[in-house]
Amino acid sequence: MKDRLKKIKEEAISDIKSLSNLESLENIRIKYMGKKGKLTSVLREMGKVPKEERPVVGQLANEIRQEIEKELSGARENFKEKLKQEKIEKEKIDVTITKRTKKLGHSHPLLSTIEELENLFISMGFSVVEGPEIETVEYNFDALNSPENHPSRDLSDTFYLTENILLRTHTSPVQIRAMKTMKPPLKIVSAGRTFRFDDVDDTHSPMFHQLEGLVIDEKVTMANLIDTIDIFIKELFGKDMETRFRPHHFPFTEPSAEVDVSCFSCKGKGCPVCDGTGWSMELLGCGMVHPKVLENCGIDPEKYSGFAFGMGIDRITMVKYGLDDIRLLFENDNRFLEQF
Ligand code: DAH
Repeated sequence: MKDRLKKIKEEAISDIKSLSNLESLENIRIKYMGKKGKLTSVLREMGKVPKEERPVVGQLANEIRQEIEKELSGARENFKEKLKQEKIEKEKIDVTITKRTKKLGHSHPLLSTIEELENLFISMGFSVVEGPEIETVEYNFDALNSPENHPSRDLSDTFYLTENILLRTHTSPVQIRAMKTMKPPLKIVSAGRTFRFDDVDDTHSPMFHQLEGLVIDEKVTMANLIDTIDIFIKELFGKDMETRFRPHHFPFTEPSAEVDVSCFSCKGKGCPVCDGTGWSMELLGCGMVHPKVLENCGIDPEKYSGFAFGMGIDRITMVKYGLDDIRLLFENDNRFLEQF
């Protein structure tokens, strides 16, 4: 009996030592100490042990049970500690790792130009208003005094959505919207996308950008227009830039002019870029608002007068950043955009 007990002890201890996880520990406990466990069955046979030996065998059995229990609880503690360490290791935070820096984008060159232009006009007392890119034929052409047979109305020049609705071909219809909804005195600018049925090349894109300006008040004269444009150009491109007003025709202004600016390369001296003229051509169109346009918007041309102007934002951006191809602005190639 004593030998069997000692053998059970050795067997149990070696079982416990070879354990690999906490769950199988309970199986070992049941294997030896459970109701049908090896130790329990041996103890059930105590009756067969001669009476005088019983106390000694009993004591030995008790000691062995305690030892097995001790081993079991020792192993349990070991496993728990091991699990804890593993968890700590897994959840460890390395506070010395530098955070992955997020790549921040920035304003597109076109948007930067729009903001610069708007801020400039705001500083001259203008308000910024918005107009829709989808416009009515009435506001885009009719109310602006554009003749029925004007070539820009042609299907081959303009994107029509229906017979009466189109993608605006210029920002000038915002003038109509402003005059119809706001009372003079009026001093507004409006920038945004415009659309024309153009083939794409280095200076043309079917979608481009314009900025429109409108001033309506009593006694507004051509002198006010010339002065405003001149100040604006000098603020935008530098004090040494001159402006030149060339007579032109627009249906919605009378008289009308196109404005040239000193050549950006030679500042007016004459160089190969400007063919020796010293002028950079056609930076903007402008004029005194046609009395018919005022009337179309319910403004009395006898009491009020005004001037308007419109400019290509893409062109200004290209000059500002020294770009030779308008497509660069719309391809959204990061290698290009990241330079600005
Ligand atoms: N809308 C004209 C264009 O797209 C530009 C323009 C010319 C606007 C004269 C004006 C203006 O307000 O007075 O070519």
